[in-house]
Amino acid sequence: MAETLTIRRPDDWHLHLRDGAVLKSVLPYTTQQFGRAIVMPNLTPPITTTAAANAYRNRIVAAIPEGVSFKPLMTAYLTNGTDADALAAGYRDGAYVAAKLYPAHATTNSSAGVTDIRNIDGVLERMAEVGMPLLVHGEVTDPAVDIFDREAVFIDKVLEPLIKRLPTLRIVFEHATTERAVQFIRQAGAHIGATITPHHLLLNRNAMFQGGIRPHHYCLPVVKREKHRLALVEAATSGDPHFFLGTDSAPHAVAAKETACGCAGIFNAPTAIELYAEVFDSAGALDRLEAFASLNGPRFYGLPVNQQTITLERSPMTVPDAVALPDGGEIRPFRAGETLAWRFVT
Ligand code: NCD
Ligand code: ZN
Repeated sequence: MAETLTIRRPDDWHLHLRDGAVLKSVLPYTTQQFGRAIVMPNLTPPITTTAAANAYRNRIVAAIPEGVSFKPLMTAYLTNGTDADALAAGYRDGAYVAAKLYPAHATTNSSAGVTDIRNIDGVLERMAEVGMPLLVHGEVTDPAVDIFDREAVFIDKVLEPLIKRLPTLRIVFEHATTERAVQFIRQAGAHIGATITPHHLLLNRNAMFQGGIRPHHYCLPVVKREKHRLALVEAATSGDPHFFLGTDSAPHAVAAKETACGCAGIFNAPTAIELYAEVFDSAGALDRLEAFASLNGPRFYGLPVNQQTITLERSPMTVPDAVALPDGGEIRPFRAGETLAWRFVT
């Protein structure tokens, strides 16, 4: 009999679901594996009001396959013009569980983001007062800063001063990609956490250029040197409660990725938990997968852990080549056509 692993049902604390036909095509992959997900608000236009968040939640709920239990956790997209009272009311009333800071032009659909964090001092003060978590895309956007250094510079120039100004603000450093981020988060208080993606645990920057340019390995923040990947694996598999699962699964049509200026984003939802299992297995830490995937996130967000369980088994499975879209386009999953060592059973 194949070796199996049963853990509490995990949650995805960083997910892009898009909208319309793409939402309907990608959502079932997530709802099959995860009990809840933090849904990123970078639609066009972005989710900046409770009315937009509630309407988006309803569209997501309507797309959940029948008989599946799944709870989308909605987020607000911060702009220079975010109103602190309206944001805090949205948090209090449950329209949002958190707010996302996209530095303007840092990534996909971030042009409406915040141009200088000091523009939202009042909003962040209010968030600290009411306990609303701030989710950060932790990269500076200064074109003079090398793209591989943008995360470390963000920590020095933006995050450290922010924590000094607002020491009680709850912060999730999303999709951590560097040793610097790991070291910083590890020594921070329990009100600061970080998500780690499967692809940053599995790839180093060579993967973007292996035998030619590899658009399906391009995401933001970009994958880094091997020493950073190793630091991320160490952090994720250590059991340290600061670190939890966030796939950053970010679907883009193949045509938008295989082009002269391709979009950033890796679509890993079809085999997310299998990919994490592979990482933990390689590190000899399968016994810590549950903490990372199913316990540390709820603890940070102050939510109950899921009561159901999922089971994986060690048997080969082939990742689908593509997910078809109704318009004739398709989305290529991470590791498309390759064989993985673990299979999600139920
Ligand atoms: C994300 C997207 O496509 O929305 N892309 C990505 O490369 N991760 C945005 C983001 O999380 O930066
Ligand atoms: Zn993201």
